[in-house]
Amino acid sequence: MRLLPLTLVLAIQSVLAAQPAKRFYNTHDYYVLEHDPLEGASLAEIASALGVEVVEQAGELANHWLVRVAKGLQKRDADPVLRSLEGLRLEAKSPHSPRSESTLQRRRVASSVKNVFPQTLRQRVKRAPPPIRPPKVETAEEVAHRLEFQDPEFGRQWHLVNNDYPEHMMNVTALWEDGITGKGVITAFVDDGLDYTSDDLAANFYAYGSYDYNDHTDLPTPVLFDDHHGTRCAGQVAAVKNDVCGVGIAYDSKVAGIRILSGPISDIDEAAALNYDYQNTSIYSCSWGPPDDGRSMEGPGYLIRKAMVNGIQQGRGGKGSLYVFASGNGGRSGDQCNFDGYTNSIFSVTVAAIDFKGYHPDYSESCAANMVVAYTSGGGNYITTTDRGKNKCSHSHGGTSAAAPNAAGIFALALQARPDLGWRDVQHLCVRTALQVNPDDPDWEQTAAGRPYSYKYGYGSLSGVDFVKAAQTWKLVNPQTWIDLPAVQINNGTMDANWTTTGGSPIPEDGVESKITVTKELLEDHNFAGLEHVTVKVWITHTRRGDVEVELVSPNGVRSVLAARRYGDNANTGYPGWTFMTVKHWDEDPVGEWTIRVSDQRKEDQSGVFLGWSMSIWGSVADPEKEHKPYVVPLEDDVLPPLPSNTTDDGSSSSIVPSSTSTKTIPRPTEHLPGDHGESDGENHKPAFSTTGTAASPTKPPEDVAESATASPSITSTPDEGWFSDLGSLASNQVWFFLAIGAVVIFGVGVGLFFWRRSVARKRRANYSSLHDDDVAMGAVGRNSSGARAPRQTKELYDAFGEVSDDEDADEETALRPHIASPGLHTGLHSGFLDDDDPPTAGSDPKETRYRDEPESPVDDEKERSGATSPGSGSGSGSSWEHASETR
Ligand SMILES: *[C@@H]1O[C@H](CO)[C@@H](O)[C@H](O)[C@H]1NC(C)=O
Ligand SMILES: *[C@@H]1O[C@H](CO)[C@@H](O)[C@H](O)[C@H]1NC(C)=O
Ligand SMILES: *[C@@H]1O[C@H](CO)[C@@H](O)[C@H](O)[C@H]1NC(C)=O
Ligand SMILES: *[C@@H]1O[C@H](CO)[C@@H](O)[C@H](O)[C@H]1NC(C)=O
Ligand SMILES: *[C@@H]1O[C@H](CO)[C@@H](O)[C@H](O)[C@H]1NC(C)=O
Repeated sequence: MRLLPLTLVLAIQSVLAAQPAKRFYNTHDYYVLEHDPLEGASLAEIASALGVEVVEQAGELANHWLVRVAKGLQKRDADPVLRSLEGLRLEAKSPHSPRSESTLQRRRVASSVKNVFPQTLRQRVKRAPPPIRPPKVETAEEVAHRLEFQDPEFGRQWHLVNNDYPEHMMNVTALWEDGITGKGVITAFVDDGLDYTSDDLAANFYAYGSYDYNDHTDLPTPVLFDDHHGTRCAGQVAAVKNDVCGVGIAYDSKVAGIRILSGPISDIDEAAALNYDYQNTSIYSCSWGPPDDGRSMEGPGYLIRKAMVNGIQQGRGGKGSLYVFASGNGGRSGDQCNFDGYTNSIFSVTVAAIDFKGYHPDYSESCAANMVVAYTSGGGNYITTTDRGKNKCSHSHGGTSAAAPNAAGIFALALQARPDLGWRDVQHLCVRTALQVNPDDPDWEQTAAGRPYSYKYGYGSLSGVDFVKAAQTWKLVNPQTWIDLPAVQINNGTMDANWTTTGGSPIPEDGVESKITVTKELLEDHNFAGLEHVTVKVWITHTRRGDVEVELVSPNGVRSVLAARRYGDNANTGYPGWTFMTVKHWDEDPVGEWTIRVSDQRKEDQSGVFLGWSMSIWGSVADPEKEHKPYVVPLEDDVLPPLPSNTTDDGSSSSIVPSSTSTKTIPRPTEHLPGDHGESDGENHKPAFSTTGTAASPTKPPEDVAESATASPSITSTPDEGWFSDLGSLASNQVWFFLAIGAVVIFGVGVGLFFWRRSVARKRRANYSSLHDDDVAMGAVGRNSSGARAPRQTKELYDAFGEVSDDEDADEETALRPHIASPGLHTGLHSGFLDDDDPPTAGSDPKETRYRDEPESPVDDEKERSGATSPGSGSGSGSSWEHASETR
């Protein structure tokens, strides 16, 4: 009796090895039967008792059997198997059933069947491709609910979830859901401090990477009344998910504060700041730069450029520090980010602004070095972020200052997902994943690589989801290489270190052209592939720099406007070896003729000469196996023809670098951002630079700017113009009278604040002066101490109002530094610090005169000149800016 079932089981076992049996759901009902062999009944006994046919083992589940029974003829008898089992179980339980052998057998069967699962057909939904999210757009409230945000102001953080314009936001919530929140990534805010006591930042504060270069203490405590900028920027990246204000884009990442903007700082301190804790810190978010006044042209000094190169080569375990720079807020003054040596550095990612409707706010600077845009103030909206204080929230943050941290936040998310991304990988991902906004805007032009590019939006708006998803599968680029093409001298044009020139071609109105040819052989010889940045250095003299326009046309006909007209730029220095940069030729084939066109807007009797230019192309090595050397920052060699460069890896060489000893004035506070930036009317219908070149971008009437620029600088401050013009429109009302009275009161308070601040500042700086007494007597410092304070006082007075001057000195011409060049003479002097200790005296501000290109006073400069002053040596990209200006 037992034999039969056994053979049956064996037969079944042999079936098991084979493929699963074909199913016949039309004719049979299928069940999975869970068998308990220990209860005595064999599978075959159960099968016969229940009237089912054993098909096979159910997958890999032990003691689970797929069984079937022919579908019942009558519909009503839908589940004969379950009913027979039920019958067996009832019978087994019944105390009245006779104790026959067959009853016992049925009991055994009943208890040997642990479970029976009827099988019904069900359609599974495919997992891949991932289900398209329902088109319904989630509101901030819904996101907050789902992600359990308690942060009370999250609903106002439209840059995270934009209820009104859902297509315009940083698009990061999907990443948060995937657990990408910036864990393990550190961003440093090189700024005016960071309030680590804020409940919204304390938990994410990274003290080890923080330092105060203004007060030389370990913690970046905001001290001055307006030291809130760095805190607000930090909140955008790493505001904690808690019950304070809102959240940061990378709310599980860490932030460090490196304080440099709250007082004067030397180049070496700034250089050190940009490399501070650079193995642990990945990102340096920098929302400052030279004045955005439409007439400055300044860049980082040699040591600072060296520090940035050190950062991208050695930082983050050799992956490279990420430098994120705000493009600048001087759009209304016609300022352009190619006149700022930080934003036009190939080593930084330059981020401009768009507003919550996706428009271009008029303060945001355009240029060919703009890489992407990120959301910030404009169109009636601001950025909501953590503010200085224990439990404070700011609803008035903005400008390109707030665009850069939003980009930094996205990079922090990407580095969590892909810690191995190099600094150039991040730039590649920006170029590839930024989203085009306002496609009808005439500023968009197609690049040779087929991407839309705009001077206003760069490659488009940075999107968290697009950037990070692309990063996750990104193949790392080959190491960087570059080719310096030999400088072209126009009509034997030369310029020496004193800016003395010979030769060159006068610049006619319709421009003068020159060409440089790149050959295939040249690329092969240099193991060069994959064009990225193009830099162009020009030597041009002109009695009014703002009239000169420079553009570069690639072999494929792609045009990069490097310098468009700047109405406010009256400098008479021209471009003594200034370097422009463009990202518009990314991935273009560089072989062929590159044409530079220099043209002149010929105002009055202003004129100039085009002396020469050089070009460098930057990209990837074609073959990483071949030897390639890392880039070395050349010493200042802004002379034409360029001297053979003779640098060693540590940058030391026979000559002394003048800018290494300089200090810069860092105005406090410097809201170059127009006061009404949040109201700034966005636009999406104007090219950044007009094609004819006769009418460039400023939204302001040209005459306006030109005139104001020649007037006293304390009156020309752009933001103030905005402010006063508002008042002007009110003047017709009665309100004017009360405002006037208010202004008088404010003025009084301002004066009080100014003197209070100055006395505080002096006390703080007293240490330096006593430390460096010896230096003071010498060289540049000696000269400086005879300078006057008047302009600086004016500036500070403006500061005291909290209203901003972007013009803190008496020089409306330029910000280029004619160097105190004398190599050797000033080495080691930390003169800048001392300047600020001097009591006000007659004359002009030491630093201001010192770095200006206006003729220096013969008396003051005698000592300097005897030491071979070389105004040109630090000019252009080589020079350091003296007004770091915060609050972009
Ligand atoms: C955000 O990303 C999702 C893809 O996850 C996309 O469907 C959506 O359109 C994006 N939104 C914006 C504003 O870019
Ligand atoms: C930072 O990096 C240094 C080495 O460069 C390491 O010793 C230190 O532990 C790191 N600190 C943190 C907090 O990770
Ligand atoms: C440039 O200099 C070379 C030699 O020094 C001379 O032959 C040539 O004529 C000069 N060109 C011009 C345009 O002056
Ligand atoms: C460059 O350096 C080498 C050796 O260090 C030296 O012989 C040469 O004269 C230098 N050239 C210049 C132009 O300084
Ligand atoms: C620059 O001018 C100074 C004096 O004005 C002079 O001593 C020096 O030789 C000049 N330098 C050059 C390169 O001509």
